[in-house]
Amino acid sequence: MTKLDLLYIPDSALHEKAKEVSSVNDEIRDILDNMMDIMYEHNGIGLAGNQVGVLKRLVVIDCPIDEADEEEDAESLKYKMVNPKITWHSKEKTTRQEGCLSIPTGLADIERPTEISVEYLDEKGKKQTLKTGGLLSACIQHEIDHLNGILYTDYLSKLKRDMIYKKVKKYLKGQK
Ligand code: NI
Repeated sequence: MTKLDLLYIPDSALHEKAKEVSSVNDEIRDILDNMMDIMYEHNGIGLAGNQVGVLKRLVVIDCPIDEADEEEDAESLKYKMVNPKITWHSKEKTTRQEGCLSIPTGLADIERPTEISVEYLDEKGKKQTLKTGGLLSACIQHEIDHLNGILYTDYLSKLKRDMIYKKVKKYLKGQK
């Protein structure tokens, strides 16, 4: 398949709602693999379909382990998720600094529920459930927001958002 490219703000695909995937087939697995490659290429920890112009509910994650996920026996938490859906979230919230591959150089403190339960289909089409806190929880919430056309900058004041966008525009201009 054709290689996908990372999209940056202000691309309109970043503000669209991605559609449910009806069947996890080879085409979907190809896209997920491609998304993983793009995520690693740009040193990201998560990527959603919208960010490569694929308006399907697809998310890839390779998230470093932090204290909250300490019990996990792995170096990082790697997931390919199809149709991920948050089925529960804690009342308790945590603020973390977030960035986004589509908003290079931008960073901001974002408050989200600390813990979540998420349901998704894995790359074999098997239903999975995951309960998690820590960085992975924030990462999954950030990526599911992407699928709904929401960027973390949408949670900021217009002033703060404009400041970040201006900086990103300047940075992207310098990359050309
Ligand atoms: Ni992002």
